[in-house]
Amino acid sequence: VTAPDLTGRHVVVSAGGTREPLDPVRFLGNRSSGKQGYALARTAAARGARVTLVAANTALPDPAGVDVVPVGTAAELREAVLGAAADADAVVMAAAVADFRPAAYATGKIKKRDDQEPEPIVLVRNPDILAEISGDRVRPGQVIVGFAAETDDVLANGRAKLKRKGCDLLVVNEVGERKTFGSEENEAVVLGADGSETPVAHGPKEALAETVWDLVAERLG
Ligand code: C5P
Repeated sequence: VTAPDLTGRHVVVSAGGTREPLDPVRFLGNRSSGKQGYALARTAAARGARVTLVAANTALPDPAGVDVVPVGTAAELREAVLGAAADADAVVMAAAVADFRPAAYATGKIKKRDDQEPEPIVLVRNPDILAEISGDRVRPGQVIVGFAAETDDVLANGRAKLKRKGCDLLVVNEVGERKTFGSEENEAVVLGADGSETPVAHGPKEALAETVWDLVAERLG
């Protein structure tokens, strides 16, 4: 049983994966299930926090006692996170936000024509929400946590990303076939801007969530 150390705190968690529409029936998406974000929301609520869960395209039941804000695209996720972050003590960006979106949206379904090759899909950059909230801190003392999925040079890439994003903590996952996505379990290293390195052994996503909140609570003082 964990002490209710997040009592009186408001935390924002993003979960799931954004979908960037191409036309009314198609989108660019990713394999994030939202399970890690939901585990973070559940454990924060159990530790006494008021929780806003910004959920992108998840198919999971709403955790009890958590304020769930459903979103679809990166732009919607950004609006919801920025809005909720204004009075939050901590923001944990567990969502897989699309780095790019189609430059154009076709209002009618893109048709296949026998006599024509398909048009290439042109992409444009999405705003980096984690970097944005880490760059102009709206609340002094706010703790901001990012996630990174890396396939190689996990620690070196993680350190570089932590610096680039400007967040306080970065949870680095090694991804590969059968690892992390959609799974009930996770294994990670949590890197701190203070140089700290906290390994989390392979185990349930709740265990990683508890470690994240331990590190957040320490920094909230
Ligand atoms: O750069 P990369 O996508 O690997 O970074 C992952 C982290 O950044 C995650 O915490 C994710 O939620 C966040 N992110 C974001 N906005 C984006 C892309 C990623 O906030 N456009």
